[in-house]
Amino acid sequence: MSEAFEAPAGAGLTAGQYKDMVLKAGQEPEVFWLEQARKLVWHVPPQQASRSDFTGDVRVDWFSDGYLNVSENCLDRHVRSQPDKLALIWQGQDEDQKESLTYQELHARVCRLANVLRRLGVKKGDCVAIHLPMVVEGIIGMLACARIGAVHVVLFGGFSAEGLAERLSDSGAVLVLTADVARRGDKRIPSKTIMDEAIARCGAESRVRHVLVVSVTGADVPMQPERDLFYTDEVAQEQPDCPAESMSAQDPLFLLYTSGSTGRPKGLVHGSGGYLVWAAFTHATVFDHKPDDIFWCTADTSWITGHTYVVYGPLANGGTILVYEGLPSWPAPGRWWDVIDQYGVTVFYSSPTVVRGVMREGNDVVRSRSLASLRVIGTVGEPISPEAWQWFHDEVGKGRCPVVDTWWQTETGGVMITAAAGCVTPRPGAACLPLPGVRATLLDTQGQVVDGAGEGLLCMAASWPGQALSIWKDHDRFRQTYFTTCPGYYFTGDGARREADGYYWITGRVDDVVNVSGHRIGTAEIEDAVAMDHEVVESAAVGIPHDLKGQGLVVFVVPKEEGVFHPSAVNRAVAEGVGRYAVPEKIYVVRDLPKTRSGKIVRRLLRKIAMHDLEGLGDLSTLADPEIVPELIAQVKAQG
Ligand code: WTA
Repeated sequence: MSEAFEAPAGAGLTAGQYKDMVLKAGQEPEVFWLEQARKLVWHVPPQQASRSDFTGDVRVDWFSDGYLNVSENCLDRHVRSQPDKLALIWQGQDEDQKESLTYQELHARVCRLANVLRRLGVKKGDCVAIHLPMVVEGIIGMLACARIGAVHVVLFGGFSAEGLAERLSDSGAVLVLTADVARRGDKRIPSKTIMDEAIARCGAESRVRHVLVVSVTGADVPMQPERDLFYTDEVAQEQPDCPAESMSAQDPLFLLYTSGSTGRPKGLVHGSGGYLVWAAFTHATVFDHKPDDIFWCTADTSWITGHTYVVYGPLANGGTILVYEGLPSWPAPGRWWDVIDQYGVTVFYSSPTVVRGVMREGNDVVRSRSLASLRVIGTVGEPISPEAWQWFHDEVGKGRCPVVDTWWQTETGGVMITAAAGCVTPRPGAACLPLPGVRATLLDTQGQVVDGAGEGLLCMAASWPGQALSIWKDHDRFRQTYFTTCPGYYFTGDGARREADGYYWITGRVDDVVNVSGHRIGTAEIEDAVAMDHEVVESAAVGIPHDLKGQGLVVFVVPKEEGVFHPSAVNRAVAEGVGRYAVPEKIYVVRDLPKTRSGKIVRRLLRKIAMHDLEGLGDLSTLADPEIVPELIAQVKAQG
């Protein structure tokens, strides 16, 4: 293994150098990506970059003759060159809860847990579920899995027991890391109890042999003898070093569940080599990474953003990450600004939802903080309006920090379209330009490529190293979901507009996915949950614009019997089936839904009616029952 740590490409580039990089990645992708890959440490360095193919069965294949270990890249090589550098600064939601770990210390903690996992029988290729709030053990858990070649599946703390059970069963997780209780401002979420219920719901399908419980609050929790163990007791028995498993670049590093247009969440599979190259490369390029950065990505680790920019990108690049457990405005507005000032955060990467929320608190809150340490600020998850962009730029970045809006997806592994800091001139509200090696393309509804300025379906003409390899245990679903709408292309599910000079503006999802505060929610997931309520015949969920959340969910429900029906039952069904975060803004009780003669629900109409936008409802004559439209309009008006 090579000893020297080579700084990632992309950091400190001029606009001209960046342009050259875009050219080179376009003209000689093999050479370019092998060069990037060689900045990592490999047991066997790859000799080829991509053998991916978007036709036929579809293959995403990067550096496949190479072997490496992701945790060695994120830890060991930095322990050799900078053991005392801070890797992770953790601040709990209460002032006095804090911890800082050097690379050496983080390495030791990861190794101890990796040894525990091995002792408990977790093998290379097994899935381990991580269901923790933003505490250090969550990050240690991910890296410990990577060390022994286990595949981590980080599960969102907001999922209901049912939502967790579905993902535990699908992944076949053999071990779960959870908390006694999670804190969220004043709220307490009984993580362990919810997990117990989830495992019970899996019944015979559960492969979970052990539950490791992290004591976050120290609450008393029920422990099942043999199966349940306390994290601290277990790691205390282990040594602080642990040999790393040698992994093929194509071996899965993690699964992450996300929503699509059908009910069942899909477990996107990310590989070890391509993913890490992409995480390191994009982290360096997009944020112009500097060795003394204090990098704060505010995303939860249960989100792809948390995987790539809380953990893998910055640690692969030997950076210092800040992890904050709490909410932006708890216990009081301005809490996150205080965290930035207290720790001298240099890069702050958050979401439009957060920006809209803090904007509402008024300018005094942000103006009473210094924020002088900030160098680059960014957002991800949904389009940011030009107004919010400007406010973020002026009030948080004080007019001197580049703002990077970053477009990407769980499926893409890392940022794809952005105005890389210091290299590309941003335009407020635009996603801007594809990164080096990203072959973004617009296709019209006939599948023809749109040249120059225009609008269309956002696709990728070729693979990039961060691309997900497959859907867990269902490669055919992967092929069908992403490669059949526009044959030969990866279809993102988003629409976009492009200016003559190549700048992209994302217009939003074109499928049945709603983006509520950055949470991807499939309308079919909501409808499936509502269908569990026996008072309901049928329902349709749509997303409409929402001031704070970006989009809000509205559900139209057709009850079995009028008058007997309780809208609160719908909320309960969604909270139980999906999670509280997906509870709709509004429920309309209606007689029927607008459908085509072939029985397809016309969501476009429901969306317009829910928005009280009654202009241009379009041709209604293709509906099975055109009469339903005025009736729906009247019912929505009456219900407010
Ligand atoms: C949307 C999050 C506009 C988009 C990393 C995409 C965005 C989906 C942006 C992926 C952005 C994400 N501008 N829209 N900067 N970033 N999106 O998988 O619709 O949770 O397809 O990944 O969010 O959401 P996901």
